[in-house]
Amino acid sequence: MRIETSVTRLLGIDLPIAQAGMSWASSCAALPLAVAQAGGLGVIAAGPMYPDDLMRAFDTVRAGTNRPFAVNMPLYRKGADEVLEMLLARRVPVLIASQGGPKKHLPRFHDAGTKWIHVVASEEHAKKAVEAGVDGLVVVGGEAGGHPPPDMVSTLVLVRAVARAVGDVPIIASGGFADGAGLAAALALGAGAANFGTRFIATPEANVHDTYKRMVLDAGVAGTRTVGRDLGMIRTLANAFTARLEEMERAGADIETRRAAFAASTLKMAALDGDIAEGKAEAGQSAGLVNDIVPAGELVRRIATEYLEVVGRLPRLS
Ligand SMILES: Cc1cc2nc3c(=O)[nH]c(=O)nc-3n(C[C@H](O)[C@H](O)[C@H](O)COP(=O)(O)O)c2cc1C
Repeated sequence: MRIETSVTRLLGIDLPIAQAGMSWASSCAALPLAVAQAGGLGVIAAGPMYPDDLMRAFDTVRAGTNRPFAVNMPLYRKGADEVLEMLLARRVPVLIASQGGPKKHLPRFHDAGTKWIHVVASEEHAKKAVEAGVDGLVVVGGEAGGHPPPDMVSTLVLVRAVARAVGDVPIIASGGFADGAGLAAALALGAGAANFGTRFIATPEANVHDTYKRMVLDAGVAGTRTVGRDLGMIRTLANAFTARLEEMERAGADIETRRAAFAASTLKMAALDGDIAEGKAEAGQSAGLVNDIVPAGELVRRIATEYLEVVGRLPRLS
């Protein structure tokens, strides 16, 4: 099965379906490998990984498929330069860089044949990244799990605005996509692929605790909260931690008090320990569209099939 778009042509993949880089959930080989084998873009999230673990996961994915795959790399992370050197030496097929400017590293990765995709959450940053010479963009809108844009502009509006602003630059739309209808919407907005984050948490391959996966299944579309304004705001499933943060914000608590409460909870607590009451169980509004746990490869094929059905049903001019 092939659906050709600007993104599939750029990256050499069969389907415009990207598994979003997700710390812990895709900080492993199993999930990205299954997605790559099914013709989508599998993404290893380097964020929380020790360099050795990252390289082991990288080598496992490379050994398991001859298709392209990506590493998502926060440029601000501790030891980022060292990890980037290792990825460069391995000629990573696709680098999805977040947080930080691309200019310093881009030319050498281009020389190695890597496609550089930059994560942005505003029109302004999209234009800057394109001026710096990136090959494509992940455009993250307000529905997204993890870090939505600080100004919370919705995916619907932001992807359209960026598509208008950057012309032919391939875009992966991110935030709120969970099925083939979402993919059709992303392509209609001018993106060349959709990024699926929360949807892929509900797969056997995702590297998070089963209670976290069940919490995603149980959540409705209004089941997330955005907490931590001015502290690196996140969208996460509503729990005891988010209730406490919201109460502090309502009560006008000073930033240091809020910072301490925000930092006391981590994504790791939810992902590895299964502490879904006190951990940051990051997920997008799309959690409300996720009702089953499906093997990742099957999910890729299902989204593609749904897409074709949805597009076939769209009304035509008569
Ligand atoms: C649990 C979780 C962890 C995430 N970790 C990262 C990350 O390490 N790097 C990154 O660029 N984005 C990260 N994101 C954001 C995703 O890449 C993506 O933009 C988001 O999941 C899209 O929204 P959706 O969940 O509705 O599909 C994370 C999202 C979630 C849900």
